[in-house]
Amino acid sequence: MTGAGGQIGYALLFRIAAGAMLGTDRPVRLRLLEIPQGIAAAEGTALELQDCAFPLLRDVEITDDPAVAFEGANIALLVGARPRTAGMERADLLAANAGIFGPQGAALNEAAADDVRVVVVGNPANTNALIAAASAPDIPAERFAALTRLDHDRALAQLAAKLAVPVRELRGVTIWGNHSATQFPDVAHATVAGRPVLDALAERLGGADAAIAWLDNEFIPRVAKRGAEIISVRGSSSAASAANAAIAHMRDSILGTRDGWTSAALISRGEYGVPEGIVSSFPVTSDGSGYRIVEGLDLDARGRALRDASIAELVAERDAVRELGVL
Ligand code: NAD
Ligand code: LMR
Repeated sequence: MTGAGGQIGYALLFRIAAGAMLGTDRPVRLRLLEIPQGIAAAEGTALELQDCAFPLLRDVEITDDPAVAFEGANIALLVGARPRTAGMERADLLAANAGIFGPQGAALNEAAADDVRVVVVGNPANTNALIAAASAPDIPAERFAALTRLDHDRALAQLAAKLAVPVRELRGVTIWGNHSATQFPDVAHATVAGRPVLDALAERLGGADAAIAWLDNEFIPRVAKRGAEIISVRGSSSAASAANAAIAHMRDSILGTRDGWTSAALISRGEYGVPEGIVSSFPVTSDGSGYRIVEGLDLDARGRALRDASIAELVAERDAVRELGVL
């Protein structure tokens, strides 16, 4: 895990060590990568990990060298990233993170285990994943993902609250596009207890038009801007929910999805018209061997327009990174 001394690290590592990601029968060895300024915080976390006496935790190693951190890694959680600071333009942010995810991708390429699976959490997550994958030509592209499980879970929670049903009754929600405010949380194929969500919303809200109005004016912006809402209410970005989503992403990749599909950002091979090579969120399933995109879902013109707007943002990010000479 990179960025181990940060907020998400503090919410993530204890649950991994307790078995939440790989199951309670699989021992865990943690390698924590930090920059020199973050090493002390990671060391403090490691002391607390020791004090938990987790039966599964075999070893914790802390380093500022990606080659050491990724040596033999089976799972890579790339969380550490350069946050946007005052005066920084989007291109500056992309450039700063390219300087992190390029070398980390190259180090994974050299040092990781043959079966490594990578999830990028650090923002801008989709484009950081694109850069890491491009820097790791020997690792199959489908092993790289960017995290949109948090967006997926946010969408489930908002729907469950509106319909007054348990989250477990919902299936078939999809996050399309970028982990950003342009993402498209889509319920066109979603069901609640086996019945179309659109029908259930129309019944609850007094008609199909009211259902679409709620989706367009409340649900989509609420989910897409939830990260900003958390920052403004909490004073810093989501941490425990992001850690929970990263664990769920990796757990389902390795142990398999249940209950239909989930969402993850994968490298497009042209599915749904997303340009090849772009890291977009899609509906995905895993049989335990890694995520595959669920194909063949139709979207109406409104849905396609929303999805295309987010894909256009991803293409612009890719082009900006190309202009920097990174890809
Ligand atoms: P944080 O600032 O608390 O911690 C980040 C840590 O990364 C710091 O300890 C820092 O020293 C370390 N770091 C920076 N550069 C590094 C590098 N090159 N190698 C290793 N470590 C490095 O931030 P946080 O709250 O833990 O969030 C981490 C990232 O996750 C941010 O980019 C945030 O925007 C993103 N995030 C993504 C999602 C998502 O759903 N995809 C959700 C929440 C947060
Ligand atoms: C989130 O979705 O909570 C994070 O990506 C933080 C952000 O900037 O939105």
